[in-house]
Amino acid sequence: MLLNVLAVGDVVGEGGQDILSRRLPGLREETGTHFCVVNGENASGVGITPAQARRILEAGADVITLGNHTWNRIQIGAYLDKEERILRPANYAGRVPGRGMGVYQCHGLRVGVLNLMGRVDLNPNLDSPFKAANFHVNRREYDLLLVDFHAEATSEKGAMGWHLDGRAAAVWGTHTHVPTADCRVLPKGTGFVSDLGMTGPVNSVLGIKVENSLNLFLGGLPRRYEEAEGNCKLNACLFTIDTEKKTCTAVRRADIEE
Ligand SMILES: [Fe+2]
Ligand SMILES: [Fe+2]
Repeated sequence: MLLNVLAVGDVVGEGGQDILSRRLPGLREETGTHFCVVNGENASGVGITPAQARRILEAGADVITLGNHTWNRIQIGAYLDKEERILRPANYAGRVPGRGMGVYQCHGLRVGVLNLMGRVDLNPNLDSPFKAANFHVNRREYDLLLVDFHAEATSEKGAMGWHLDGRAAAVWGTHTHVPTADCRVLPKGTGFVSDLGMTGPVNSVLGIKVENSLNLFLGGLPRRYEEAEGNCKLNACLFTIDTEKKTCTAVRRADIEE
């Protein structure tokens, strides 16, 4: 069969959660989505609370992935240990709560989801995401593998796509909050995009108030960032996967802007 996987970019704040709750059910139906992964690291602006994670799952996410803001709301730690449908990056070097890889049943298949985080211009203290990917691929606990690579550099993300070509059904990037136009299927059948973008306020800098960001770049006193207001967008990509060949046949953007 052809399995449609919808991957949704970083959900930012109340506005992001609101558009996700209102529009994800319809988008799932319209795209024939069988399995949906949502990056939730910015549900609180920075971080995510258990209540926000529950809201994202109720909106229609099968799995939530996270990133560099995982620990900004530290109360998520205990929740990560007990809720299997939320993952934090697998390559944290320390002894942190939760898990970075999960295997989920979907239409008789074991769908593996792996959350990784980049080191370039992000967190040099992490274990290698490339070696972590090898470790999980070699365990072969799944029929199909989906990877959210939360990273800053397009070079590191592109390299991960090629590293996993033919070994993962899909590899997508998150974190930059800016959608990229490079959806493609790599030669050995891995669907790839450098960044999904974000789900949050349109008139903003990466989801936060323009004046907060400009203040910093103009040399003002650092202030607490606030979520921008106004209309929101939902950035997502749809990966169509041939479950017999275990390869991706098509990738396209599936964005909504209100
Ligand atoms: Fe991030
Ligand atoms: Fe983010």
